[in-house]
Amino acid sequence: MDTMLMYFLFFCALGVIALAGAVAFFILGLTKYNGPPAGSSDGSVSVHVLVLGDIGRSPRMTYHALSIAKHGGTVKLIGYLETSPHPDVANSPNITITPLPAPPHRPASIPFILFAPWKVLYQVYHLTHLLAHTLPPAQWILIQNPPSIPTLAVASLICRLRNSKLIIDWHNYGWTILAGTRGANHPLVALAKRFECHFGRLGSLHLTVTHAMARQLRSPPYSITQPMMAVHDRPATIFQPLTLAPSSSPPSTRTRRKKEILQRVLPTQAEQALIPHLLDGTTRLIVSSTSWTPDEDFSLLLDALTLYAAQPQQTVTPLLAIITGQGPQKAHYLEQIAALTAAGLLPNVRIATAFLPFADYAALLACADLGVCLHKSSSGVDLPMKVVDMFGAGLPVAAYAGYESFGELVKEGENGRGFEKAGELAGILGRLLGGGGGGDRAELERLRRGALKEGSRRWDEEWDSRVGRVMGLVS
Ligand SMILES: *[C@@H]1O[C@H](CO)[C@@H](O)[C@H](O)[C@H]1NC(C)=O
Repeated sequence: MDTMLMYFLFFCALGVIALAGAVAFFILGLTKYNGPPAGSSDGSVSVHVLVLGDIGRSPRMTYHALSIAKHGGTVKLIGYLETSPHPDVANSPNITITPLPAPPHRPASIPFILFAPWKVLYQVYHLTHLLAHTLPPAQWILIQNPPSIPTLAVASLICRLRNSKLIIDWHNYGWTILAGTRGANHPLVALAKRFECHFGRLGSLHLTVTHAMARQLRSPPYSITQPMMAVHDRPATIFQPLTLAPSSSPPSTRTRRKKEILQRVLPTQAEQALIPHLLDGTTRLIVSSTSWTPDEDFSLLLDALTLYAAQPQQTVTPLLAIITGQGPQKAHYLEQIAALTAAGLLPNVRIATAFLPFADYAALLACADLGVCLHKSSSGVDLPMKVVDMFGAGLPVAAYAGYESFGELVKEGENGRGFEKAGELAGILGRLLGGGGGGDRAELERLRRGALKEGSRRWDEEWDSRVGRVMGLVS
């Protein structure tokens, strides 16, 4: 065996012994939660909300924290501080942000299978130190899963020892994500699955992002028996339609607002020049946000646009497609777009990428004709947050539909259309947007009304009546 590997294993073993000692030390000094039971009037409900990720990019955990705080609970919001958290979190007197030290980054020379245990040890130490030593005990610990390792084990142990109750908010499964990036046969995938199934059963209450996920968690291999409820993601307040009452406000006001927004957000001169056409509907605007990763196959959209553009010229409505988001395969696809454009395969279609501040992205959605979502679910039972946000902006969607929970968000023919192949997406674009400047305006209008309706239900309604009641914050 390689000498470097021997050194690594030796120091890992030392690390495990040191860690066991440190954890035992923290645990010996533990105090238990002895406060009032949930729902009593003396003293507020205390909750640790924990995500092993960037707080600023964890909207759902942020909304949990804000909802708890709004109902008078005291929240410690625990996670990494990479981007700035939601301003309401920073301004709430009832929420304290408790940052975790950033995890170590894997140098390219160290293989994943050797680095992963070291990273986990590091996280176990800091999580235990924080939950068992720095913070007072809480009535509830609410954690996000995934990441499952080591959060599930550490949080469930602390809950047992400190008399807290554990709430697991299932966004997805850690092991299916790992299988997606490392391959289904990677040895750590089987280990991660067993870990998640075992420790996942130790919650007092389970929240899920879909009904399909809740059904799955009730059956093997998860076999969870505790109370469980699906709490669907809802759009953030920042996502609003152009006008809340489309039919009652004068069209000129909407056009003026739309013009202002487009002037602000369209990336270059070439797109700016299209504004008059976008305003009178002779060019249609589609928006997609993608992470440019293999699990969101951007070639689906590119192929669909190529097929759309290949229709007879006089029947094609020109399209502007704005793609937002950052990710590893972006440069690769930009080259492909440039090549297709140069070869004359995208007449009447202009594809532009943009990196927009959150508020501008939200405003852009409200101006668009159709949102496109390429999200492919690794578990089959999660849902794309970007579609939730598109509905919040009153924007109907064309979305990849090949997974079980799809219909819990996108209602076919009501607020959007599903596709699985590029040809189907091209057909949807042609029907809704194309067709000699018209397209099927009646269908698009119907989908828009459906999107407005779906988007008008917000987080508070979903949360207050369900989670708030169980936690004893809402009577
Ligand atoms: C903080 O909690 C108090 C009750 O303890 C509540 O009245 C208030 O609205 C909460 N504030 C915020 C910003 O959530």
